[in-house]
Amino acid sequence: MNQRNVRNFCIIAHIDHGKSTLADRFIQRSKIVEERDFRDQLLDSMDIERERGITIKSQAVTLPVEFEDGLYLLNLVDTPGHVDFSYEVSRAISSCEGAVLLIDAAQGVEAQTLSNLYLAFDHDLHIIPVINKIDLPAADIDNCLHQINHDLGLDPDEAVLVSGKTGQGVEDLLRAIVEHIPAPAGEPEKPLQALVFDSHYDPYRGVIVHLRVFDGTLKPGDTIEMWSSGLQYEVEEIGRFKIALEKTGQLSAGDVGYLIAGIKTIRDVRVGDTVTRPDARCKTALPGFREVKPVVFSSIYPVDTNEYQGLVQAMDKLRLNDASLVFEKDNSAALGFGFRCGFLGMLHLEVIQERLEREFDLNLVLTAPSVEYEIELNDGTRLLVDSPMDYPDPGTIKLAMEPFIRASIITPDTYLGPMLSLCNDRRGIQKDMIYLDTSRVELVFEMPLAEVLFDFYDNLKSLSRGYASFDYELIDRRPVQLARLDILVNGKPVDALSMLVYRGNAERRARAACKQLRQEIPRHQFKVPIQGAIGGTVIARETIPALRKDVTAKCYGGDISRKRKLLEKQKEGKKRMKTVGNVELPQSAFLSVLKGS
Ligand code: GTP
Repeated sequence: MNQRNVRNFCIIAHIDHGKSTLADRFIQRSKIVEERDFRDQLLDSMDIERERGITIKSQAVTLPVEFEDGLYLLNLVDTPGHVDFSYEVSRAISSCEGAVLLIDAAQGVEAQTLSNLYLAFDHDLHIIPVINKIDLPAADIDNCLHQINHDLGLDPDEAVLVSGKTGQGVEDLLRAIVEHIPAPAGEPEKPLQALVFDSHYDPYRGVIVHLRVFDGTLKPGDTIEMWSSGLQYEVEEIGRFKIALEKTGQLSAGDVGYLIAGIKTIRDVRVGDTVTRPDARCKTALPGFREVKPVVFSSIYPVDTNEYQGLVQAMDKLRLNDASLVFEKDNSAALGFGFRCGFLGMLHLEVIQERLEREFDLNLVLTAPSVEYEIELNDGTRLLVDSPMDYPDPGTIKLAMEPFIRASIITPDTYLGPMLSLCNDRRGIQKDMIYLDTSRVELVFEMPLAEVLFDFYDNLKSLSRGYASFDYELIDRRPVQLARLDILVNGKPVDALSMLVYRGNAERRARAACKQLRQEIPRHQFKVPIQGAIGGTVIARETIPALRKDVTAKCYGGDISRKRKLLEKQKEGKKRMKTVGNVELPQSAFLSVLKGS
């Protein structure tokens, strides 16, 4: 294919603005999938992605599209739509020359639209503003055009109006992509320089690297080298993404495709790395590469200790396809063996939890998520601590530092008051307040990452009736008064319920946790006190009164089948119970603490 007839683009959009639906229309138009095989959201390949309607992994597809002046190959690099995965988004963006910026006609510009737009600007992409979902009765096209001009600084005359749902305007958009997005530069004769923008693991083929070639040509049989690790491989196969993988003889400057080279683990292939050849190295690596580091930590245990082996296997399987999931063995007195895991954010954590439970049929308990604190001891030692179990003796601590984020919230000004108090309550420091137009405001806050882990996003959405949007980036670490909050059930500390908290929040968190546990833990034949404590000091307390165990007592006589049902239910509940000392804790007790009490 002539380089002049290639276009590389991505679709950037806020969550739910219709990216996957639009991609489906493109795929239909290019006819790479038989109409009878077509199902919605082809690019969202995980069940969870389809169910939750969010893209978790980057995907790419090559769309051959015939126009009057010939055949074009449009490479669409689909990007994850969530802030947890913004590094992947940045790599996907840098493999393109242009971007389709999707705006929901009824919602207008939202926080992530802006942050993604800035990313696209940073990479000098040509941006085509697109107003999507114009079929909606609530579509406000004039308002969107105004926002495109005023908020985004783009030319509203270039805006394309489409509906991914009905297909209206899709042809115009394809034409605009070919006309306005530049063909890739780069020279096939130069030394190989290609960008890894993603990878996945295939049980039969090994690692499949997704790449964009900037310079040079790649053929089967070539020896390649990963810039960051120096690891070398012989290329077995290369090709393009046509939903299925389609082998080709070569990939050259400007192309997007895949590479298979006997790579055993995706840990050897880093997103953002440069692929070159040891015999003809490119001069420099492509910019922007960094190691992805987890920011949220939690321990995962099986409810039934017999399921530990199952969990080991499941984690190993998930790791094959998710280089950002890190974990090590963990051991809790209350819950037995498990794993301490690091995630890119709360969504990443939830996705892993759901996959373990759904695909591997495991019953799990997760501990309260934590950020990573940097702790300096009196003797000058520095530690990174993400688990309450590793928290040093408070007497030895000189200084604790917590990760801080810069948060951007875009909200209609009607909800300005609630948004400001939400951020202030979460120890936010207001940095900026910009009126984007007469009724919408962008708030910029610096705040601790730990404060947005717990129900921040849900609160933001409910306080603004769903209208406010939120995005963040990590900036630095700042001093924090830290404490380990222990939860004692019947006088015994339950290690898996401990959490690291900001001292000023400790009472509130302790009271909330005790209250929640009081509701979740069934009555026993004796009184069960639940306490929250820091060091030896109790700061919150609830008591579960004693009760007889006969749960059928409340079904006054008669109905045998109902009695049996209740007994069976109780038996089922037992299976999901953990015994701590002589108290039975249901799985839900741990989960309630995970949800932020
Ligand atoms: P992420 O992967 O999370 O970024 O979501 P997305 O942007 O891919 O959104 P998706 O395509 O999943 O669409 C979100 C919702 O909007 C779905 O319920 C779609 O059915 C709906 N939707 C998408 N396009 C249109 C459209 O043109 N018109 C209408 N009425 N609804 C649409």
